[in-house]
Amino acid sequence: MCGIVGYTGNQEAQEIVLDCLKRLEYRGYDSSGLAIISPDGLQLRKSVGEIAILESKLEHVPGTTAIAHTRWATHGKPTTENAHPFVDCHSEFAVVHNGILTNYMPLREELLKKGHVFTSETDSEVLAHLIEDAQGTDLRSKVVSALGRIEGAYAIAVVQKGKNEIVAARYESPLVIGVGHDENFVASDVTALLKYTNEVVYLQDKEVVRITSDSIEVSDMNGQVAQRESKTVSWSLEDAERSGYPHFMLKEIFEQPKAIHESMLGRLEGQEDDSFFKAKFTSIKIIGCGTSYHAGLVGKYLIEELSRIPTTAQISSEYRYSPVTDSKPLVVCISQSGETADTLAAAKEARKRGCKTIAVTNVLGSAITREADHVIYTRAGPEIGVAATKTFVTQLIALYLLGLKLGTMNNSLSSERRRELIAEMRALPRTVQLVLNDAPIIASLAEKHKKANSMFFIGRHMNYPTSLEGALKTKEISYIHGEGYPAGELKHGPLALLSRETPVVAICVRDHTYEKMLGNVREVTARDSPVLAIGTEGDQDLVKYAEDVFLVPKVNPLFSPVPIIVALQLFAYYLAIERGCPVDKPRNIAKTVTVE
Ligand code: F6R
Repeated sequence: MCGIVGYTGNQEAQEIVLDCLKRLEYRGYDSSGLAIISPDGLQLRKSVGEIAILESKLEHVPGTTAIAHTRWATHGKPTTENAHPFVDCHSEFAVVHNGILTNYMPLREELLKKGHVFTSETDSEVLAHLIEDAQGTDLRSKVVSALGRIEGAYAIAVVQKGKNEIVAARYESPLVIGVGHDENFVASDVTALLKYTNEVVYLQDKEVVRITSDSIEVSDMNGQVAQRESKTVSWSLEDAERSGYPHFMLKEIFEQPKAIHESMLGRLEGQEDDSFFKAKFTSIKIIGCGTSYHAGLVGKYLIEELSRIPTTAQISSEYRYSPVTDSKPLVVCISQSGETADTLAAAKEARKRGCKTIAVTNVLGSAITREADHVIYTRAGPEIGVAATKTFVTQLIALYLLGLKLGTMNNSLSSERRRELIAEMRALPRTVQLVLNDAPIIASLAEKHKKANSMFFIGRHMNYPTSLEGALKTKEISYIHGEGYPAGELKHGPLALLSRETPVVAICVRDHTYEKMLGNVREVTARDSPVLAIGTEGDQDLVKYAEDVFLVPKVNPLFSPVPIIVALQLFAYYLAIERGCPVDKPRNIAKTVTVE
């Protein structure tokens, strides 16, 4: 949801901010722009479309301080006028902003009455004019004064004509400071900076920073200096690059054996600190959005199975509407980015209600880690493709680990079953690799269905959420309408939509749901829909029921969502390729949604 970058140092800034900005393009790509402090004054360049379009139009502008922005439109269409940065009436200050200012309309009217001239329809432009109007002797104090007038979420970076400094601040939108040698950076996400530095300082809500080439001064809005230690991020530049794959999504799908291994490393032996789990939890609520919610739904089944603690999963944006009850569930907030506004709001609400909270996230130092009482990192490495893949699978691993922990702590899990399950978990990277080896088979199945306008994905029990996730991946990147459904529900309405033109992907693994799933497949084939059945290795019978069959290795039913979702991720990927869709940057979608 918009990416921002800033650089100040002793090198030419233009190339550096553009390079960093391209690594943030997954956050939005409707338009982009940059502002450079050049000897000829504050130079502004903007363009509609991807960053490559801006780059192709750019001449070299000299200057060693710059800010840049890639936009995901919220207020105002994706036009050059609405692209960031924004300047004040005298082109003295330039601002880039990620977030949403909720009170911008009255502020805009007030500024218009004072004679300010606006050039865009955006909420963000008010910031440039507020800074122009602000009291204060230096850029930092003017920015703080302007921020005092606004409501809403922001991560901003501001530059002033003739000054080699950047003032940045954040509230409920992500911002990190990159620490370099004779140069410093700001960015929405650390992956933007990995080529230049892996030393970062995480700015906290309502903090402001002034950076120059050789100083980083963090303070609160009252000017109180805050000492912030820098942290070293273990991700490498290679982790954040495509490494020869045509798309980040494919690379990230193929990284899953490694990601699963990393996320289990040292955790299966139970060596981690258990003190948080000493409390007795009588119920659990899992919260997340999109793919993270689907992981939460799988978590519901597995945690109940392993720990016998009643567990529900809820979409983050709906959590606030559930009544406060006497019971105080353990609230597990899942967010790969750790910055999703709906999930952060739910985590805050859970704390307000007196619940203990756990964050499951992939991003060190992200906002959700500050909201939670306990954090489980998924350790998937950076995920750049907009569609979540390896972060979903590692969220499942985190939830399996949580289920094992809770089941062990409350004695619901015998040590023998625990041992068996752990042995199965250790085999998961190999299992996933076997699915990946069959990618060409999945590609040919996708080729067959590339012309479909609508598809259903059906499954039962643990694989009902898998069907939801398969459908989400499909609609998100191939633009085929994909609908996930509990298989038993088809006959209660959706069968009306089935025909030869509506393929159905049926998850028919050999577990306690198998016979019932075969019944559902028969219902579907009776309506002429072509069925692609995902089954278990060795199943000779499925071909009698389904037009096409893809088999995944046999695993304990509890773990079956893992190999199956890998197959469905590949299916969605190849559908998108066949249809010529921009896999890593699907239309209208941003990877991190920092607005509610
Ligand atoms: C789909 C996808 C989204 C995210 C959702 C939550 O592929 O990526 O549905 O899962 O926006 O994002 P996080 O997990 O960052 O909170």
